[in-house]
Amino acid sequence: MLILSHTSHLPSETTLTKFFFPPTQRLQAPPSTSGNDQGACYCVGQARSSNRRCSIRSPGLGRMLTRCAMNGGEGPHSYARNSSYQKGVVDVAKPIIEEEISRKLDLKHLSSTFRIADFGCSTGHNSCAAIQIITEAIRRRFEIEGLISQLPDFYVYFNDKVTNDFNTLFNSLPRERLYGAAGVPGSFYGRLLPKAALNFAYSSCSLNWLSEVPKAVLDTTSPAWNRGKIHYVGARREVCEEYANQFAKDIESFLDFRAEELVPGGLMALLVPTVPASCDPNSAYAMTTAPYLLGSCFMDMAKTGRFSEAKVDSFNIPVYFPIPQEFKAIIERNGKYTIERIEVLDNPGKHNLTGPKDHAAHFRSVSEGMLIDHFGSEIIEELFDRYTKKLEASPLFSDPDCDKSIIMFVLLQRKLESYCSAS
Ligand SMILES: C[S@@+](CC[C@H](N)C(=O)[O-])C[C@H]1O[C@@H](n2cnc3c(N)ncnc32)[C@H](O)[C@@H]1O
Repeated sequence: MLILSHTSHLPSETTLTKFFFPPTQRLQAPPSTSGNDQGACYCVGQARSSNRRCSIRSPGLGRMLTRCAMNGGEGPHSYARNSSYQKGVVDVAKPIIEEEISRKLDLKHLSSTFRIADFGCSTGHNSCAAIQIITEAIRRRFEIEGLISQLPDFYVYFNDKVTNDFNTLFNSLPRERLYGAAGVPGSFYGRLLPKAALNFAYSSCSLNWLSEVPKAVLDTTSPAWNRGKIHYVGARREVCEEYANQFAKDIESFLDFRAEELVPGGLMALLVPTVPASCDPNSAYAMTTAPYLLGSCFMDMAKTGRFSEAKVDSFNIPVYFPIPQEFKAIIERNGKYTIERIEVLDNPGKHNLTGPKDHAAHFRSVSEGMLIDHFGSEIIEELFDRYTKKLEASPLFSDPDCDKSIIMFVLLQRKLESYCSAS
């Protein structure tokens, strides 16, 4: 069931629709911890509590599936109030998206409905800004070409994990907008929409989140066991390789499923935080140093007896920051798209985080759910106090110019079916 929220110029009653996928398509989705996580689309829109359980460890495998979304609501620790960094990504991409839509969008083959999806929309504020840019650029294109009377109806699918706070998303939709809106909960590493339903796919700052923590890094018998750390930065080569392999596998699935959902010739704009070179903890990238420092706080707390070191060893953060060449190689290997534009951008959003406290609040808003899930809510205040102090001791978090992490912009076009199967 899909809950649709209509624009003012569309019929006002709520419509419920169910998409049914053939069983073969359902089988391709990665293992789900919830019966509804894949395949059928529906809207949960549940209120979020900070005590929710949102990751599941399967016994025996030491496997951690990641279902936690960002902090919901609009309170002091919410993603909505602490995502100015990601807003900077939307801002820097705006002129590029506008230019590409004015150059690449094929108006001749459009039907009366134009469908857009944002994969990993979170609670909506940045997503709505991006959708506004996309729909307005398309509208302007029709206007410039003298075709405004043929402007299609826009439909936007907002996708995120089932635990995402879709209520805040729907509340943040602008009153005056050009599009109808639908929430599509479920993992974007599986199939979410009907075949060839999409004209334009978008995703920003979301593809770094892995579908699961690589199994080997939690396996005490594996050479890739990540003892004493919660992330791959500063860890052994085997750990980094496990993360890189998981990322490649996940992105491959993402590209495959989107290729099914996009119309041939459909466009996909991706914004992915990346680092210019592989990670070491002393390098100048805030996004990779942040989890490294958080990991050291956990080990400090374990040493004081707040929890065991084994508790830390059994937790890893399922986030990966590729280098641009690595991301490009995965797309090329996939072969279902042409790369229309690829660009490395300096993210002005880092200037929106004005110091260590802002950085800590930002990191808390994206990670608190999974931290509570594993360690319990009682450790959170102490953890983030310690973490803020560590950030204060590093110039990287006081002077945004020290942070050399980058954003990769990629515009892909779905190849036509015949060309695709030949390649
Ligand atoms: C850092 S937020 C970015 C949100 C938004 N795009 C923005 O720019 O502000 C990453 C989002 O991706 C979502 N996400 C991560 N993995 C996902 C998955 N497998 N399927 C759907 N959403 C996912 C998270 O829940 C989160 O809301």
